Amino acid sequence: MIEVKHLQLITAIEQTGSLSAAAKELHLSQSALSHQLRQLEDEVGMPLFRRINNQLHFTAAGKTFRKKAAAILSEFGVLEQQLEDLRVAQLNTYIHGYSNAEAQRLQDQAQTVADFIHRDSHWPANESVLEAGCGVGAQTKIIAALNPESRFTAIDISPQSLQQAEQAIEELGLTNVSFAAEDVEQLSYRDNSFDHVFVCFLLEHLPDPAKALKELRRVLKPGGTITVVEGDHGSTFFHPDHPAARKAVQAQVQLQHKNGGNANIGRQLYPLLERSSFQEIQVSPRQIYVDDSKPTLVEGFIRNTFTAMIQGVSEDAIAAQLVTPSEMQAGVDALLRTASGGGSFSYTFFKATARK
Ligand SMILES: C[S@@+](CC[C@H](N)C(=O)[O-])C[C@H]1O[C@@H](n2cnc3c(N)ncnc32)[C@H](O)[C@@H]1O
Repeated sequence: MIEVKHLQLITAIEQTGSLSAAAKELHLSQSALSHQLRQLEDEVGMPLFRRINNQLHFTAAGKTFRKKAAAILSEFGVLEQQLEDLRVAQLNTYIHGYSNAEAQRLQDQAQTVADFIHRDSHWPANESVLEAGCGVGAQTKIIAALNPESRFTAIDISPQSLQQAEQAIEELGLTNVSFAAEDVEQLSYRDNSFDHVFVCFLLEHLPDPAKALKELRRVLKPGGTITVVEGDHGSTFFHPDHPAARKAVQAQVQLQHKNGGNANIGRQLYPLLERSSFQEIQVSPRQIYVDDSKPTLVEGFIRNTFTAMIQGVSEDAIAAQLVTPSEMQAGVDALLRTASGGGSFSYTFFKATARK
């Protein structure tokens, strides 16, 4: 079969004018290059070159091959560029973005809600866990430390976030995590590769969460488990209540919807997992209720997690004309009032587990 490497081989020989220079350009040994060339000529069934006075001359078949090879490789380059553009566009529609403030918010959020979410995040020793959408490693740090004998593969579509995650894990001295840049909708892993899958705050950002679950199920071993944690902004209520605060929260819900996501996805975990052919599905709502008796949660959850999230999307929500600047400011002020004495705040996360 003619392969891309053969097209590259002929193009490099044409461009450099000699076999040794082509081998150098392709980072091949001269014998590997000669082997590929022989393979190709066998495949084609006739010589592509003749040597005359120590110089290489393309035969008629060689000239036809060389012309088509150049055209196909150029098309290939266009395809690669288009895929890269799509990947960048996907990164740009990610609602929370990749700022330092968002990286900090993810860390604050994970630490603040760790007891609610991870009290039962345990996997057996020596088993493999794929964490999809690990971001800056905020959850990775917690689950890898809680399960020092399990092996984690943490993936994300953002190379920049992965770098931060890797650094965070290194700083903690944890050695049971490896990282890879992957798109959850199109994983490079073989079927049945992992014992378990863990996903946190990822499905809410995907235009087709069922497609991602199908792909995650593909790489999960038969009998393996999936754990999914997602929020649901519709579960938010607070005192003092204020229409401006509700409008600001709703602006985030609408913006996320506009970008193809679903900020109210928590309530849909059961049907999504069921539709994706998982068995033994169990959904456990994890309510975070905060009042003045829990000052750590007032700071960590109301201010640094929830209100910081709304503040983080405010520019985009205003640009999308979902809310005016003064409405957004009034909304943020009203949310902060719930954290300034005499208030309360409630939000529910949903943690689902299921088996392949
Ligand atoms: C809200 S963050 C959550 C990060 C982490 N799970 C946490 O809880 O801190 C969502 C992450 O999903 C990643 N993401 C979005 N689309 C993705 C995709 N198609 N494949 C892999 N990761 C994706 C984003 O880059 C981002 O890092």
